[in-house]
Order: sequence, then C-alpha cells, then structure tokens
Amino acid sequence: MDNIQLSVIAVTAIAILVIGGGFALAFAFYQANRLIIAVVSAPRPDLVAQGGHESGLGQTMRRDRWWLESLWTGLGFLSFVVYANWAAFQGASYWYGSYLSPLYSPVLFVDISRVGAAPVGHAWFGVWPDWISQIWPPFFPTSPAWLILAGPLAFRLTCYYYRKFYYRSYFMSPPGCAVGAFSTKPVQYKGETSLFIFHNLHRYTWYVACGYIAILSWDAFVSLWEGGDVFAGRFGVGVGSIVLLLNPVLLAAYTFGCHSCRRSVGGGINRISVSLVVRTRFNLWKRVTWLNQRHMLFAWLSMVWVGFADFYVRACSMGIINDINTW
Ligand code: FES
Repeated sequence: MDNIQLSVIAVTAIAILVIGGGFALAFAFYQANRLIIAVVSAPRPDLVAQGGHESGLGQTMRRDRWWLESLWTGLGFLSFVVYANWAAFQGASYWYGSYLSPLYSPVLFVDISRVGAAPVGHAWFGVWPDWISQIWPPFFPTSPAWLILAGPLAFRLTCYYYRKFYYRSYFMSPPGCAVGAFSTKPVQYKGETSLFIFHNLHRYTWYVACGYIAILSWDAFVSLWEGGDVFAGRFGVGVGSIVLLLNPVLLAAYTFGCHSCRRSVGGGINRISVSLVVRTRFNLWKRVTWLNQRHMLFAWLSMVWVGFADFYVRACSMGIINDINTW
C-alpha cells in the first residue's frame, strides 16, 4: 500500500471515530432529554391530586417532575451560548488549512494580525477596515464572528421550538404546562404583539438561514482543497472536511423542518389535484413534515454540531489536534 492509500484508510478510520463521537455526544444529549422526560412523567404515588386551582410560581397539580426538562434544556442551551460567546471572543484560531469554523462564516473582513485568522483571499471584503476599528468597542477583540452572528441567532431565537423552551426555562412564563407562572398577576397574554413582536420575523429569517446553508456548503466544498484553493490546490479529504460536510446537512435538516418552510411548501392548497405542481408540492410537504416532526432533534443536533465543528477547527488551528487527511 502506498502513502495515499494509507492516508485514505487512516482518514476514514479517524473520521468514523470523530464523527461517531460527535454524533454520540449529540444523541446522548437528546436521548438523555427523552429519558428524563420519560422518568419525570411517571406519576408519583406520594402526591395526591386534590382538585382546585393552585397559583404562584411553580405551583401545580401535576404529579410528575415537570421541572427537569425545563432545567435540562435551559442548561444545555446556556452551555452552547457560553461556548459560542467564548469562541467568538477569541477572534483567532478559526481557520486551519482549508477549514473555516462555522461560527465565523462567512468571513466579511479579516484581521490578519490575529493568529489562526483566515487568509485575506477568503474574506468577502478583504482586510479589517479602519472605519470599523474606529467604532469597534475597545474591550472587544476584532473578531469577524460578531459581524455574522445576527443571522443564525435571529433564526434560532424566533424558532417555535426555541421559544417554547426559553419561555419555560428562562422566563418561567410558565415553567411548564399547567404550572404556575412567574407572574401571579392575571396579566393579559400579549404573545407576539408586544415586546416579542420580532418573533413575527421568523418566516423571513428562514430565508436568511437558507443563505447560511449555501455558504456553509461552500465552506465544506472549500475544505476539500489543500490550502482552501479551490481547483488550484490538491483535492483531498480530511477528518475536518467530513465534520464540515456534515454541518450544512444537519442545519438543512433543521431549517427545512421549520414550520415556516412547511407552510411555504404546502400551504394554501385546498385540495390535492392531479396538477404536477400541486402533486410536487404535496410530496415535498410530506418530506418537510417528516423533518418537522423531528424538529427538536435536529435543532439540538445541528446546534451541537456547529459548536463541535468550531471546536475541531480551533483545536487543529491551535495544534491540539493533528488533523488526518489525504494531502
Ligand atoms: Fe423552528 Fe422555524 S419553527 S426553525
């Protein structure tokens, strides 16, 4: 066997280990959540329902451990937010060889003085401009991640599933079904008409999310070329390429299971006719519905994988992990 064959075998073996590990991590999180729900949903014989109405934070007639799911999801999301903020604050080590961290993609401007920054040729608008430096807060590192986080953040924060858990876990409004809310006053529910009116933008942020999938797919393609030189560098595969290839796949599974997508694809049809367009839309709607029924799963998988992909690229860039590849 020559060196290339050995490299291919080594990349494949390590990719299986790394990808398997990443998936195992994400699935473990998801399955742990499901297990907790199953455990906490079991009736507690020591509590007896007595009828009547309880009011006050956390007061309920439920006999299960309803609070565990809210706690678990709240802490899980908080962990991701802490990691993503830490990674964005670094402003460095987000590029390795041909790999770009998804938390920094697309790179609009690049500060070439930072270690592990992307090459200037991979920044959409070149080097970090003076006019940004002049308005940039002095306590913020010049990190291109801050320039692009608004898109994915807006999409996730307005997602129906995310709303559900952060209303429960963080606002305690209410902390669970049939559980007393934070405010005991009989306030009128204003839903998306008041402070959270921006939630109505979700259907538009979906288009933005689709754009990010296209960009991250391109990043995955670039990762297959040595040095990130598409068609000029040598073609190859590294463990990081596979990590970056899976990233847009999982994001697409989450994004195309969105309620807005389901409405766009199948909404407004009153009857299934023999028309090719309607039948095509109906078939698409069925596939989107399959994803929609697993929206929570893909919300978690895609989010954990974005963090994992950043971690992998960062660890390679910092010399902590030695990426195995065919180059
Ligand atoms: Fe979750 Fe649209 S409802 S992404």
